[in-house]
Amino acid sequence: MNDIFLRACQGRKTDYTPVWLMRQAGRYMPEYQKIRAKVDFLTLCKTPELATEVTLQPVDILNVDAAILFSDILVPLEPMGMQLEFTEQKGPVFHNPVRTSADVHALRAIDSQADVPYVLQAIRLLKQSLKVPLIGFSGAPFTLATYMIEGGSSKNFLHTKRMMYQSPELFQSLMKLVSGVVTDYLLAQIRSGVDTVQIFDSWVGALSPHDFERFALPYVQEIIRALRASERQVPIIYFAFNSSGMMEQVRKAGADVYGLDWRIEIAKAVDLLDRNHVVQGNLDPCALFGTRETIYAEARRILEGARYAPNHIFNLGHGILPETPVDNAKTMVEAVHEISLKAL
Ligand code: CP3
Repeated sequence: MNDIFLRACQGRKTDYTPVWLMRQAGRYMPEYQKIRAKVDFLTLCKTPELATEVTLQPVDILNVDAAILFSDILVPLEPMGMQLEFTEQKGPVFHNPVRTSADVHALRAIDSQADVPYVLQAIRLLKQSLKVPLIGFSGAPFTLATYMIEGGSSKNFLHTKRMMYQSPELFQSLMKLVSGVVTDYLLAQIRSGVDTVQIFDSWVGALSPHDFERFALPYVQEIIRALRASERQVPIIYFAFNSSGMMEQVRKAGADVYGLDWRIEIAKAVDLLDRNHVVQGNLDPCALFGTRETIYAEARRILEGARYAPNHIFNLGHGILPETPVDNAKTMVEAVHEISLKAL
């Protein structure tokens, strides 16, 4: 197996900088669209053979150093009692948003083995054929709670924050329930064979640092502590999107690797992490709409910026956009490999 990515996660030296792309399996790829034309998104997530096939597509096509399980952060919420639908126009929708104490009490914890067997089966299938490490993942409790409370994507997170400020105890009880689900879900993925896990906290950037510390961070810490106590240890990546104004708080999560978006100079983030944490990122996804020259220049700039970190995993600062030319994504991977191999 090409274990460069895993070694980098552990902070060990590598011959070159590993690279993968968030949302690397997806609509920008004609091979993905061909499969999606036949089945809806949720069916794709729930059919292990198909999920395996789309997970493998970018590994072969882009030559990335890691695969990420094809699924969605919202998948484990369905068996909790959330009525999930992925719509073409509005993205994910929950038809029964959680707003009251009765709504929270109607939810249940999940048993991943029984409730999401297809996710674990996809992991087992992938481990049979993959030549690179497999990343498992979950949403972080705050990000998942925003979808549950808002009933879908949101701009201002008004319902979420109203619950936080008006009924903090109710909000905390929901967070506790979701944290239990995330812990069970990640432990089940680890037992099924994933090599690393990434916790996506896509919407914590909406919180003040103070509220992040009260309402979101303790739950991430609790999950990471539980993973550290498990029988099989894997590196843990925490990606708090849009959080560069609160790195001081984010770094308390206890992760091995911190994901970075593009709103912070990577060298500055490395310093804020005392140069003792591996970093992942931080190319603006729109940089993939540039030319071969600008893509090489950006790759070089970021690789140089990360040089004082124990190691660096090159990635985008958020998911790849559906309009991205596949050839430019390939160019980016090639640039990272080529430049880092020479420089390191
Ligand atoms: O990275 C990968 O290749 C693995 C698969 C993956 C998906 N979603 C597939 C997906 C992962 C890791 C996710 C995580 C996810 N999902 C996040 C966290 C990362 C982030 O982007 O901040 C969030 C917030 C979601 C929720 C979600 N899922 C939204 C808002 C949407 C609709 C918007 C969109 O891009 O379509 C989805 C749908 C989704 N998840 C798609 C894919 C490939 C598109 C579905 C389709 O084929 O139509």
